[in-house]
Amino acid sequence: MLGMIVACDRNGAIGKDGDLPWRQSTDLQHFKNITMGSNLIMGRKTWDSLPGVLPGREHYVLSRGNVEGVEVISFEQALEMDGWIIGGGEIYKLFLPHVSQLHRTIIDTRVTDADTFFPDITGMGFILDDEKHVSAGEKDQHNMVFQHWIKNSV
Ligand SMILES: NC(=O)c1ccc[n+]([C@@H]2O[C@H](COP(=O)([O-])OP(=O)(O)OC[C@H]3O[C@@H](n4cnc5c(N)ncnc54)[C@H](OP(=O)(O)O)[C@@H]3O)[C@@H](O)[C@H]2O)c1
Repeated sequence: MLGMIVACDRNGAIGKDGDLPWRQSTDLQHFKNITMGSNLIMGRKTWDSLPGVLPGREHYVLSRGNVEGVEVISFEQALEMDGWIIGGGEIYKLFLPHVSQLHRTIIDTRVTDADTFFPDITGMGFILDDEKHVSAGEKDQHNMVFQHWIKNSV
């Protein structure tokens, strides 16, 4: 089964200039807690944006070319796997109809000049299972809301 995890702003923005548009340590910890020990499936541009391999997780990249230092898989191969779809924009759009759950963090800001967005999930069959408001800690720029959505029929 595939799940999806994303952090977006109030307008659905997820990226700017090939990177995350915020520094949000508490959300990175949340990402780590959820994905630890699992397969991570991502687009090539998100792979390029990572500082390196994330410990304790297997990395798989979608690309139409060759990518150094990581296993490249196809969309069809990914659909047969268990793990987390971790972005970015192209890959979220591609897999949204195929995931059974979604962890979405809403970062309480509106990024100017964002260039990558998470799709609107309205009407896609997701049901809000849990929602938790968290105030910005010392290493966060913004307050955030952790949401868990589930979908019964994939
Ligand atoms: N806020 C968040 O939670 C979050 C999470 C992840 C990423 N991001 C941000 O999102 C941005 C990157 O997103 P993006 O949409 O530009 O790129 P992306 O989705 O990470 O990667 C796009 C690439 O994936 C490959 N690809 C796409 N569809 C494919 C298919 N059907 N089969 C095989 N390969 C396929 C292609 O690679 P090739 O060009 O190599 O063929 C394509 O260029 C960055 O700013 C990043 O920081 C944010």
